[in-house]
Amino acid sequence: MTQPIGIFDSGLGGLSVLRYARERFPDEAFVYLADQRWAPYGDRSREEVFSYTNLAVNRLIELDVKGVVIACNTASDVALERMRELHPHLPFVGIEPAVKPAVASSRSGIVGVLATTGTVTGTRLRSLISKYAGSCTVLTQACPGLVELIEDGLGDSQQAEALLSEYVTPLVAAGADTLVIGCTHYSFVADRIGAIAGPTVMIIDPADAVAKQIGRAMTMDGTAGGTRYETSGDAVRMRRQLQEMFDEESAVYPSR
Ligand code: DGL
Repeated sequence: MTQPIGIFDSGLGGLSVLRYARERFPDEAFVYLADQRWAPYGDRSREEVFSYTNLAVNRLIELDVKGVVIACNTASDVALERMRELHPHLPFVGIEPAVKPAVASSRSGIVGVLATTGTVTGTRLRSLISKYAGSCTVLTQACPGLVELIEDGLGDSQQAEALLSEYVTPLVAAGADTLVIGCTHYSFVADRIGAIAGPTVMIIDPADAVAKQIGRAMTMDGTAGGTRYETSGDAVRMRRQLQEMFDEESAVYPSR
């Protein structure tokens, strides 16, 4: 029997990675685990994010996954290296803000990164900037409140528009011509970010690059496809969210 690929996020954001992963590897089976009981991670302490990530990874291991995708920038920053040390035989794929490609594509020499407070104040983004920014200026923008709206299905609302404007407009006014989607949830409002930023600004969303990376890190030997969804939050609510976002009728199981 082939093993499924585990994908984990605090909530719905990692579905942006799952969407591309299913397109790329239609024969693979997936388990998607949303830790919605504790979302958003972005405003939590590193200790909390580590311990929730640890629990989620252990749950995926219980489900006999062949590898784990931490489809969350915040959790990858806090826990990816430690997870690799704790589970040396399990392949892990993480996600980080795409600073390097953004710097390469910028003509103005100014790049903006939109991410959670946890990612903006964390260690990974700082080290990516010192490694890759070169002569480019990398502006970081924490976006509190946005994950909650996306989790509540309000990504298209006036409220989200106002919040996005508040976060995106100053970056563009400062000369950024390239914006990085540094939180998987923001993938679902990438079009709105693009509309606010205007046609000359490039938006970089690494979700598909992460999906591609799964194919390099794990053996693709699935035969049947299919996705099992679990949430630590309200399973009925997540089922509704999947219907609204993907028009997908799927069972959602409570996790632990
Ligand atoms: N989607 C996650 C990320 O990429 C976390 C969002 C959150 O829970 O704050 O950072």
